[in-house]
Amino acid sequence: MGDLNSKKILAIETSFDDTGAAVLFGRKVISNVLASSVDLHRKWGGVVPSIARQAHLDNIEYVSAEALTRGKVSIEEIDYIAVTYGPGLAIALEVGLDYAKKLAYNNKKSLIPVNHMEGHFFSPFALNSKGKVFSSSGVNIESGINVKKFYPIIGFLISGNHTELVVSEKLGEYEIIGETLDDACGEAFDKVARMLNYGYPGGPIINRVVKKYRKSNKRWRDDLDKFSLPVPMEHSGDLNFSFSGLKTASLYKINSLREERSDEMMWAPQFCNEFIHVVSRSLEVKLISAIKKYPSLKSMVLGGGVVHNEIILRGLSSIGRRNGLDVLIPDKRLRTDNAAMIGVAAYFNLLAGYKGLKGKSILTVERVPGLRLG
Ligand code: KG4
Ligand code: ZN
Repeated sequence: MGDLNSKKILAIETSFDDTGAAVLFGRKVISNVLASSVDLHRKWGGVVPSIARQAHLDNIEYVSAEALTRGKVSIEEIDYIAVTYGPGLAIALEVGLDYAKKLAYNNKKSLIPVNHMEGHFFSPFALNSKGKVFSSSGVNIESGINVKKFYPIIGFLISGNHTELVVSEKLGEYEIIGETLDDACGEAFDKVARMLNYGYPGGPIINRVVKKYRKSNKRWRDDLDKFSLPVPMEHSGDLNFSFSGLKTASLYKINSLREERSDEMMWAPQFCNEFIHVVSRSLEVKLISAIKKYPSLKSMVLGGGVVHNEIILRGLSSIGRRNGLDVLIPDKRLRTDNAAMIGVAAYFNLLAGYKGLKGKSILTVERVPGLRLG
């Protein structure tokens, strides 16, 4: 197979609303191009599958060509084409997968179908084009480091579609030890933001509102149970999550506050402050239990759009560090969906001994919208 670190990978990602393509040499990200369709969904308050599909169709060719141009490689020089085949929206996944299959078939390249969640899991292991660590989490993961030393790893994947705790004892082996029973964590942010007429996507907006609130109110800690919001699943005794109860409680509270008070500009930031606190607590409680349950863990990886939230990020990282784990955090550009992380996951699939499609024709690979890790 030769030196994996010099293998050229073209990665493609269309599982949700962003069309992504990236070129990697091994796990070094040479180019990472993204066309977001978020503006087209904003007025609907969430992602509309048919609009996402059309945007992928409009963008996929240009985004892939641009990734190759910026990566200064031609399709002939590429060794592997990696593509997300699940989980995600069926009609969105289809666009990237069809494109990648045809590209691989026509150019006689090997295809590596990648699990999107494995992409989030490996996103902190991406290196920049010089082979240096992308993000500054303080842990050295540079080329030449034997990444196997980080195992067993606990992954906390928190995005707009997923909230999962995953344990990986060995490269390529996963066990989901906790997951959401209903809404994903990012979705809860988006829904509460919508109730407050903040726009879409809500996570970054609520985050900004709370940062400002905490900056101008030194006593923000005194306000954390003003609205009696519940910490979801705090005493459930398992490692699962649930955000629909909090969503309903938020809706009732917001409605009654609107009836009782006219100063929404005053109470809304206070409400968001408490909302982030209870969400963060519910993630922290489960992480603490998980670490206790799996005492041999060596490191923790964080992935997904919600990792952008500094309050949540700080809380989870400090629990990991306090328990002696190396904490690996993806670069800001690799937290929300992107193709570079799909390329990094493909690299690790190769490292784990990926043997190709075992005689199956590339053209028969199908999307799996409900794909799970493990
Ligand atoms: O990983 P991602 O792009 O999507 C999925 O794969 O699902 O994450 C998008 C999610 C959205 O729900 C968005 O509201 C949330 O990440 N998000 C945040 C923040 N930035 C993005 N949530 C909380 N705080 C943030 N700063
Ligand atoms: Zn994602």
